[in-house]
Amino acid sequence: MNQTAPLTGAVLLLAQTLDFPTPSDCRHQPQGALVIQQGRILWHGDRADLPWPRDQFDAVYDYGNAWLLPGFIDSHVHAAQMPVIASWGEQLLDWLERYTFPAERRFEDPAVARSASGAFLDSLLAHGTTTALVFGTVHEDATDALFEAAQTRGMAMIAGKVLMDRNCPDFLSDTAQSGYDASARLIQRWHGTDRLRYAVTPRFAPTSTEAQLEGAGALMSLAEGLYSQTHVSENPAEVAWVKSLFPNARDYVDVYERYGLLNDHAVLAHGLHLTDREWQSLANTGARLAVCPTSNTFLGSGLFDFQRAEDEGVALSLATDVGGGTSLSQLVSAAEAYKVAQLKGKKLSANWLLHRITQGNAEALHLGAEIGTLDVDKQADLVVLNPVASQNLAARLDGIEALDERLFALVILGDERLTQATWVAGQRRYCNGQTTPIS
Ligand code: GUN
Ligand code: ZN
Repeated sequence: MNQTAPLTGAVLLLAQTLDFPTPSDCRHQPQGALVIQQGRILWHGDRADLPWPRDQFDAVYDYGNAWLLPGFIDSHVHAAQMPVIASWGEQLLDWLERYTFPAERRFEDPAVARSASGAFLDSLLAHGTTTALVFGTVHEDATDALFEAAQTRGMAMIAGKVLMDRNCPDFLSDTAQSGYDASARLIQRWHGTDRLRYAVTPRFAPTSTEAQLEGAGALMSLAEGLYSQTHVSENPAEVAWVKSLFPNARDYVDVYERYGLLNDHAVLAHGLHLTDREWQSLANTGARLAVCPTSNTFLGSGLFDFQRAEDEGVALSLATDVGGGTSLSQLVSAAEAYKVAQLKGKKLSANWLLHRITQGNAEALHLGAEIGTLDVDKQADLVVLNPVASQNLAARLDGIEALDERLFALVILGDERLTQATWVAGQRRYCNGQTTPIS
């Protein structure tokens, strides 16, 4: 490192920096500092060892007692469902009909889609989330608006237009052909542009004909590194419906398997009622399950079996699934995962949970070389957490010294109130309740 080279970056000073390179290891730097240059992490260490005088930096951000972590990563969330969070009384299929489809219809108006997409991404940032795998809606223009909003904010986002050509209202239906064509154009425009990537997005088996699923499989070969995302085995009524709609498939997972939609770039939300064969198929194909605990308890869908996933060697990620989920905070998802696992007799550690929502989710999404830790050369996608922004957490932390206990309190009591600042590619995009205006 050339220590005399002029610096044009920023230095962040914090009470501690924390990152979670493995499920059992926390790298903890009390009195930490992090230097950002050209959007990337240039240096990370103890502030006493900072190899440059402070006046060489464009800006110094002294965050006092705050903690710095890699930005959170949400592996399954719906851009158009903010207005349906906390909708009363229904389980999955009725919830979709009564609340969700009407909300997604609003994205047929490109002006609505533009402003709501920006607001959605700003809300992710306010919750400390810097990257997400996002379900758009069935509308091509709205999906363009979502990608444009992420591009303007410099975010690494994976997203796709929903494919849905049956068992849905006419106002949300595409056709096998129109869905294929629109997805192909979106792939062309967005996949690999800046930090954006495309996910082929059949909503779930019941809302696609066999012709559409075949088209979805064909889309996967249009470019290198495409993702697919969908839902699987979330609710018992849904599972029974899939059985009747696809009598020739061995099971729900097989519907996706037979159309070439299962590989290590496939992210399937939920997976609560899987058979032995389905677990094995997920393990063999390398498909990932996005576990969505606040959604699963809220919609009464079921309890994810973390032990089974570990035993079967199925890769996991953790996700909010807003608006079925009840919070965009990945700290809240982690807390709910802990409770769900407890109900199944499994103890998840704070380190495992914090690893999951940072480096673990980055690896599950094949983004581990770019984001997920505070390592030098990674993109500077960061969240600054002020632990005393929650009175309960502040009081709890007051009595504990041990790091693992402090991290556990953070997971269980933390939420978006703690987000003091969020940085994306070295730009501060959210600070103390204010999103940086996009010019
Ligand atoms: N299954 C099909 N669509 C959806 C959706 O929007 N949310 C959830 N939670 N499950 C689904
Ligand atoms: Zn979902």
